[in-house]
Amino acid sequence: MSVITFFNNKGGVGKTTLVYHLSSMLAELGHRVLAVDLDPQANLTSVFLSNERLSEIYETEGERPTILSAISPLNRGIGDIKKVHIEQINTNLGLIAGDLELSLFEDKLSTNWGNCLNGDEAAFRIVSAFYRIMKEAEKEFKADYVIVDVGPNFGAINRAALIAADYVVVPMGADLFSLQGLKNLGSRLNKWRTEWRDRLQRNPASDLNLPAAEMTPLGYVVMQHGIKESRPVKSYLRWANRIPKVFEESVLMNDDFRDKRVENDENCIALLKHYHSLIPMAMEARKPIFLLKPADGAIGAHFSAVKNTYSDFTHLANEIIDRIKQEKVTKKPVTAPN
Ligand SMILES: Nc1ncnc2c1ncn2[C@@H]1O[C@H](COP(=O)(O)OP(=O)(O)OP(=O)(O)O)[C@@H](O)[C@H]1O
Ligand SMILES: [Mg+2]
Repeated sequence: MSVITFFNNKGGVGKTTLVYHLSSMLAELGHRVLAVDLDPQANLTSVFLSNERLSEIYETEGERPTILSAISPLNRGIGDIKKVHIEQINTNLGLIAGDLELSLFEDKLSTNWGNCLNGDEAAFRIVSAFYRIMKEAEKEFKADYVIVDVGPNFGAINRAALIAADYVVVPMGADLFSLQGLKNLGSRLNKWRTEWRDRLQRNPASDLNLPAAEMTPLGYVVMQHGIKESRPVKSYLRWANRIPKVFEESVLMNDDFRDKRVENDENCIALLKHYHSLIPMAMEARKPIFLLKPADGAIGAHFSAVKNTYSDFTHLANEIIDRIKQEKVTKKPVTAPN
């Protein structure tokens, strides 16, 4: 079981689109997947669910079957987490729906991050709420992978989401601001990890299941918006080829960097193309681009493009699985020979 969070504090790079397509592809390949929307904008939820279902969930009086109801006793100071509703998308794929009102939890998470330093058990329960909700849901759904989408910021919601992550994937744009953002992202992840491990020593409740804040970086995915041909253009390459060094130094904290181009960088999980009109077509059809059919409007050249996206996302999903397996093998404790 692995929790993989897609994170970049820069907005609009394509995180939600990537999470949607990757979780759908992992499920398509036969894995059990739980997608989790921890962005209070709830964009992932609106991509997954029909307008009718969205109205049913969000226009109902009282408790909604979203992440919010699972944290509501904690938020109101009257208890601990509750069992979360898992929205069944298909046989292999479940969704924990997001909620706009999740943003009201931000202050509480922020204050209690500080209170953990005083060994306050309630504070540990609050800060670890997302982790514990996801672990329970993962077990209930028998998920092989939990894929988490978060908003573009370094706020307290994201900090609580990230410390719950076993792995982090960074969706990246190839431009100046994405590169600058990447520098801050690495140092922020390291700061959160260090601060949480310091707090962990002060946890008074030994029976409380708390995250280890592994946040192992699996690599980055370059989202090539704006590239028309399959061959990357010069201006794009200028920025893209600067990513390997910044990622190695800022995220992996490795100063021993040998010059590499993005295509040869082992930290580059994939270079995802610009999918142009397939994206709105898929939104309209409420399915991932790789499952579009002629009846959805994918005819002629569009249909052959759809086939290519199927192989793009299969490759991406398998690459992520391989990296996790590799990571687990590397981390396996060495047992003494008999
Ligand atoms: N590969 C792609 N090809 C074409 N358009 C894309 C691609 N990936 C994302 N987009 C488009 O780019 C826009 C931003 O994508 P998305 O919402 O996934 O970004 P985000 O990083 O989740 O944004 P936010 O930071 O606001 O959460 C959307 O309109 C989406 O349809
Ligand atoms: Mg998003």
